[in-house]
Amino acid sequence: MLRRTRSSRARFADYRRKLLDPQWAKMEVGPGGSERKPKHEIARPVLELLRHTWSFIGADRLTLVLALCTLTLSTLLGLAIPSATKLAIDYVILDHPGPSGLPAWLGLPTERMTLLWMISAAMMVLAVLAVATGMWGRWQTTRMTKLLQASLRRKAFDHAMRLPLYRVQALKSGGVTSLLREDAGAAGDLIFSVIYNPWRAIIQLAGTLIVLSFVDWRLLLGGLLIVPAVWITHRQWINRIRPLFRDLKVTRSATDGHTTEAFAGVRVVRGFSRAKAELGRFTVANHLMGRQEVLIWWRSRVLETLWSLLIPAASVGVLIYGGSRVIEGDLTIGDVMMFTTYVLMLLGPLETLTSTASTVQTNLAALDRILDLLDEPLEFAPKAGEAPRELVRVFRASARGEIVLDDVWFEYPTGRKGSPKAPKVPGADSPGAVEPAWVLRGIDLSVPPGRTVALVGASGAGKTTLSNLVARFYDPSRGRVLFDGVDLREIDPASYRGLLGIVEQDVFLFDGTVAENIAYGRRSATIEEVKRAAGLANAAGFIEAMERGYETVIGERGVRLSGGQRQRIAIARAILADPVVLILDEATSNLDSESEALIQRSLGGLMKGRTCFVIAHRLSTIRNADVIVVLEKGEIVETGTHTTLIESGGRYSELLRTQLEAQGVGPEAVAPRGETGLAGARGTGT
Ligand SMILES: Nc1ncnc2c1ncn2[C@@H]1O[C@H](COP(=O)(O)OP(=O)(O)O)[C@@H](O)[C@H]1O
Ligand SMILES: [Mg+2]
Repeated sequence: MLRRTRSSRARFADYRRKLLDPQWAKMEVGPGGSERKPKHEIARPVLELLRHTWSFIGADRLTLVLALCTLTLSTLLGLAIPSATKLAIDYVILDHPGPSGLPAWLGLPTERMTLLWMISAAMMVLAVLAVATGMWGRWQTTRMTKLLQASLRRKAFDHAMRLPLYRVQALKSGGVTSLLREDAGAAGDLIFSVIYNPWRAIIQLAGTLIVLSFVDWRLLLGGLLIVPAVWITHRQWINRIRPLFRDLKVTRSATDGHTTEAFAGVRVVRGFSRAKAELGRFTVANHLMGRQEVLIWWRSRVLETLWSLLIPAASVGVLIYGGSRVIEGDLTIGDVMMFTTYVLMLLGPLETLTSTASTVQTNLAALDRILDLLDEPLEFAPKAGEAPRELVRVFRASARGEIVLDDVWFEYPTGRKGSPKAPKVPGADSPGAVEPAWVLRGIDLSVPPGRTVALVGASGAGKTTLSNLVARFYDPSRGRVLFDGVDLREIDPASYRGLLGIVEQDVFLFDGTVAENIAYGRRSATIEEVKRAAGLANAAGFIEAMERGYETVIGERGVRLSGGQRQRIAIARAILADPVVLILDEATSNLDSESEALIQRSLGGLMKGRTCFVIAHRLSTIRNADVIVVLEKGEIVETGTHTTLIESGGRYSELLRTQLEAQGVGPEAVAPRGETGLAGARGTGT
């Protein structure tokens, strides 16, 4: 029996046990809320990372310096306020040694009430000035951070989009969104965590200490006793409570993910009457979350209690010492008041500095991951030691559409054998290396312009792989693929893909309107062109029957289409793109015979005049192909037309027979109109 849902008590006990494990305590929660895993080792030296940050700030450096200047000003202004309190208390309120105690050159009024008002007004002005100047700097810095985050995200997105396909797929399963969102965000925050916040803390700390030392150096020493206490309690908080918060986030996102899944898969849940079990899982997850929250509550309470004792203790210390000095006549009451305030003002920067220490670590690790991504070689980047090639651009008007595969061997890059960053170059194996897992072996195939090739073979024979090479999703490991006589490697990939149309079994439609989806490959198309393409694809009928027609939103947020309807939209999309080379990879295998008949006709329109690679289970398309290529384990075992291959009675006719038997249906289901496909196949082959 499979594992049953465990009670939240048992899972929580497990969690507590893990918390005690020192190994586990050192691990960090992965980005995007995955389970704890070993800390990301920062590969680059810290100085290099900081240099990168500095260069990312780029043209904004002057603004940053200005922001730091205003920050300094506003922090110093803020520091002046407690001194003003002292002035008011000592020289005005207590009248000791009286208003005359203020220097005469200030020319201040001697009336005490007036003086009090004046000092109070000055304090307010100072406070407003401090806030206003600080605000400008903070605004600029925030703006800068957001811009930096956006530009890092843009860079990372652009780079990730242009990586080799197998890397993109690996990134996708590894949570590329969290890399883009969280890591780029955290790296952008470096401006705050490395520059802005520490700067403010240091100014405030230094300023406070200097003022304190003017008043009484012994008091200052006492005040400094606070520093280690704050540092230690704060580090404790960070080390013991923060990971708990992250673990809580992991539990929460797992629960959310599970909930979403349960609703998305509601048909399966109902079909197997598992609603109650799903509720059970949901409840257990929620209880676990509750338990974790209570644990966090307890730990935070301990720390808060410490702090709420520490602060009065510090004040009491100042009061006792300072008070006795006042009684002895060495200090004034204003001094003691001011002192208490400044000692409390020490706490803020201390707290900032301690929490910054660990935030910086996280942010640097994030930047390191981003830089790792940006360092990965792009798709089709020249290999090390190879000079960059002059790329040929191909154009719709001049392209003929001849495709030649010249002794093509291919192995999927996996990144398993070498490091993922430097995939092994197949064909350059050192002796004793693992035998390459060839998916295609010595393929020779020449397709004249405008002809149709049908690729047939068992599942896994390499049909999709062959068309992937034609589409240049990958480069062959050995041999060449030529387009109009030019090696694809020498053609500008973007210009080549502009001549390419692909319709696959799984149609991917974007969240958007029908018209937008059809015009995806040619944004400049007019609505008339979109409609014409839809008409040719036999899609116009069902599109116009929908309430909002071409403006209907499809996908996640819109209407759901049937498999056949999606397929016809994909065909319309390909028709509108007007490709020179067309790849149809099992474009019709999911369909019922009625849609099949419709699509068959639309495909006929689409294929006319283009070089086509067709992979299909159904025989109607294959039968009409100019040449049929039978693949077996990555090798071409037969080529010929339908008639010649049936006559020779080889693999092709065998495949046909097994397929018919497997389908166990009459010819009419496979070839809807008697004249195509099976009727003919039967007639000749059996
Ligand atoms: N992205 C990939 N990475 C690694 N191996 C792959 C990948 N795609 C397909 N293969 C392998 O290549 C072989 C041929 O697959 P494919 O070309 O999809 O076959 P077909 O389309 O004929 O069913 C299979 O053994 C499959 O496991
Ligand atoms: Mg396939």
